[in-house]
Amino acid sequence: MAVTQTPQTAFWEGDSYFVLDQLLLPHRTTYIECRTPEDVEAAIINMNLRGAPLIGAAASAGVALYFRSPAAPPCSFDGEIAKLLATRPTAVNLRNVLEESKKIYSQNSTKSREELFKIFLDFSKRVHLRDAERNIRMGEIGADFVKKRIYKGEKLKILTHCNAGALATCGSGTALSVIRALNKQGLVGKVWVDETRPYLQGARLTAFEMLCEEIPHEIITDSTAGWLMHENEVDLIIIGADRVAANGDLANKIGSYSLSVLANFHKIPFISAMPLETFDLNIPDGRSIVIEKRSDSELLSFNGVRIAHTGCHGLHLGFDVVPAGLLFALVTENGVVSDGISAEKISRLFK
Ligand code: MRU
Repeated sequence: MAVTQTPQTAFWEGDSYFVLDQLLLPHRTTYIECRTPEDVEAAIINMNLRGAPLIGAAASAGVALYFRSPAAPPCSFDGEIAKLLATRPTAVNLRNVLEESKKIYSQNSTKSREELFKIFLDFSKRVHLRDAERNIRMGEIGADFVKKRIYKGEKLKILTHCNAGALATCGSGTALSVIRALNKQGLVGKVWVDETRPYLQGARLTAFEMLCEEIPHEIITDSTAGWLMHENEVDLIIIGADRVAANGDLANKIGSYSLSVLANFHKIPFISAMPLETFDLNIPDGRSIVIEKRSDSELLSFNGVRIAHTGCHGLHLGFDVVPAGLLFALVTENGVVSDGISAEKISRLFK
C-alpha cells in the first residue's frame, strides 16, 4: 500500500502563494507562505523549491505578488523581473516565464495595481496548470517511445539522476512522468536512484516519489552508476533538463555528463525529457549555457556538520552539459527527437 501521496509542490490560496519546503522532505511536509516577490526569490535561492519547470512557475507567482499590495513597491516592474531572473542562472524556464510576463505587462501597463494582480494571478494559475498537462503528455509520449524502441519483453531497469519528478514540476514530472507511465503498463522492473550529492535530490525526493507510487527502486551513490552499467543492470537512463540549446546540447544536474559518457560506452540509451519551455533556441549549443556555481559550504558540510577540514575549499557546480551527440532521444510534450539529434529536427517540435 502506498505510504502517502507525493505532496503538491506549490499552490495559490487566496492572495498567498504556498511553496512546499523541499529541504525538509521526505520527513516533513511543510509549506512556506509567500506574500511578496522577495519571499519567492528567497525560496528559489535557498532551494526550498527547485527543478526547472517549478522554478519557472514560481517566478510567475513572484510577478503576481509584485502587484499584491495596493501601494507600489520601491522597485520598478523591470527591476522586479531582473531580481527574479537573478535567483538561479541555469534553468531557462525562469527566463521564458518572465518574458511572457513582460509581454502581458506591456499590454496592460495602464491598468490599476488591483487589476494587474488579478491578471497575473490568473496567468500564474495557468502556468501551473499547463505544466501539469505537459507532464502527462510527455509521460505518455515517452513511454510509447520506450516501449517501441527499447523494451524487449523484460521489465526495464532504469537509472535516473537528481529529481525530475512531481517535486520538480507542477504535475507528475518530466523524466519521472515517463517512468510513471511505463510503470502503469507494468514495464518497470527497478529504478536506480542516484543520490545526487550534495543536495541529495535523488535520495530525498526521487526515492520518496518512487515510494509513494510503489515503484521498485534502490538508492545508489552517484559513483555506483558506471559499475551497474558494466554489470548489465541498466537498460535505460532517463533524466530531465534545465536548458536545451538549439542543437540539443543540454544542461542538467551535475553528474549528467558523466552518466551520458558511461551510457554511450556501454551502449545504453540515454534519454532526456522536458517541456518545450526548457529549450533556449537563442543559443546555438551548450557552450553558451551558464552553469550555476554554488557555495562550497553546501559541499563541505552535511546537515550542518563540517565534513572537510575548515582549511579546505571545494568547487560546487550545480550543472553540467550533455552533448547532443550522446543523447538517444529528447522527449517533449510535442513529440520525440531521436536517431541523431539536430537543430533542424528540434525546430520541427515547435511547429
Ligand atoms: O538544482 P535543482 O534541484 O533545481 O536541479 C534540478 C535538476 O537538475 C532537474 O533534473 C531538472 O531541473 C529537470 S526537472 C524536471
